[in-house]
Amino acid sequence: MRAFAFPERTHEEHPRIRKPCEDITLEFWHCLLFAAPVFFGSMNVFVTGGAGYIGSVCVEELLNSGHKVTVFDNLTEGHRSAVDSRTTFIQGELSDEAGIKRAVREAKPEAIIHFAANALVGESMTNPGKYFRNNVASGLNLLEAAVENGAKKFVFSSTCATYGPPDRVPMTEDLPQRPINPYGESKLMFEKMLLWYQQIYKLEFVAFRYFNAAGASEQFGEHHRIETHLIPNVLKVPLGQATQCEIYGTDYPTPDGTCIRDYIHVVDLSAAHILALAPGKQGFFNLGNGDGYSVREVIKTCEAVTGTKIPVIEQPRRPGDPPKLVAAADKAKNELGWKPKFPKLQQIVETAWNWHKKHPKGYA
Ligand SMILES: NC(=O)c1ccc[n+]([C@@H]2O[C@H](COP(=O)([O-])OP(=O)(O)OC[C@H]3O[C@@H](n4cnc5c(N)ncnc54)[C@H](O)[C@@H]3O)[C@@H](O)[C@H]2O)c1
Repeated sequence: MRAFAFPERTHEEHPRIRKPCEDITLEFWHCLLFAAPVFFGSMNVFVTGGAGYIGSVCVEELLNSGHKVTVFDNLTEGHRSAVDSRTTFIQGELSDEAGIKRAVREAKPEAIIHFAANALVGESMTNPGKYFRNNVASGLNLLEAAVENGAKKFVFSSTCATYGPPDRVPMTEDLPQRPINPYGESKLMFEKMLLWYQQIYKLEFVAFRYFNAAGASEQFGEHHRIETHLIPNVLKVPLGQATQCEIYGTDYPTPDGTCIRDYIHVVDLSAAHILALAPGKQGFFNLGNGDGYSVREVIKTCEAVTGTKIPVIEQPRRPGDPPKLVAAADKAKNELGWKPKFPKLQQIVETAWNWHKKHPKGYA
């Protein structure tokens, strides 16, 4: 583990700080202070969006790994009962600049994990302002709070939607980023802000470009106010909440004509965030399994797991849906030591189904 990897700060950056000989001793203690929680298994982590789907599971995993967590969420999309009872919970709004700065100042986190965002692609095409305001402008308040309060690490939930339709699959991090909706654009804008904050303030960041998060832990699962994700929508049929599911496009250039996507277990996503907290880990990383599954394969797996026949209605293609989105996640594996534990679709669907059976109305 690289314990002393934070960039050196110069006298020009900190004119009130000490002479070079004192520097060495103080820098040592400064690094040791930050490294200690990593070595001893406990960091103070501030998590925005920790009442949402991915945030709730990541918070649980952080706590299970011995970290101390403060959750900040406005509960517009998240759920109070999705927040692990071991956290300090703050119901707050990122657009309230004074409020978020106060919350970060009081929590004094070593690391910030930023899940909070609006994430409906379709809505972003009809209300782009909501996306740029929340995902960019409100996110900026958090970034400023991070710098003002000396946070050492900023971990950001980005998305494969920053790439737009890819030139090739599997998709590596160096592909051109040409988002085709304001949601993807807003995430790309935040990625760029992170680069500037890294350069100017030496704020270490990791930005994860998730593919399709899916599955559940024992306790926490997927309950979006408006559900656009395939697996929870298909599972509504065996839950008795829908009579059929819809397939958009059956004439894509894929083996069965339906779109192929990369599903990654939410517990595996969470594990990557915990690895990203180690000092010295920086940059942009795809998080996916590298295996694609078609819409028909997902439905077939849901049928096998639930033992229920799932009727389908075939609809025309939706505009802007690329035939195949599959991640190359070798960078996360090689640089962070990340290894998904639940790579198979069957395992992902089983955990989702177990959670939905126990919580048929989600957190309602
Ligand atoms: N779910 C996926 O498959 C997926 C894929 C790619 C990227 N992402 C990104 O991952 C993150 C989490 O996704 P999710 O599916 O858990 O979403 P989610 O909607 O379940 O969670 C987001 C949480 O952020 C909170 N929030 C939003 N705006 C806020 C604000 N202004 N102030 C305070 N809290 C606010 C919401 O109340 C909610 O609890 C998002 O940033 C999303 O863009 C998700």
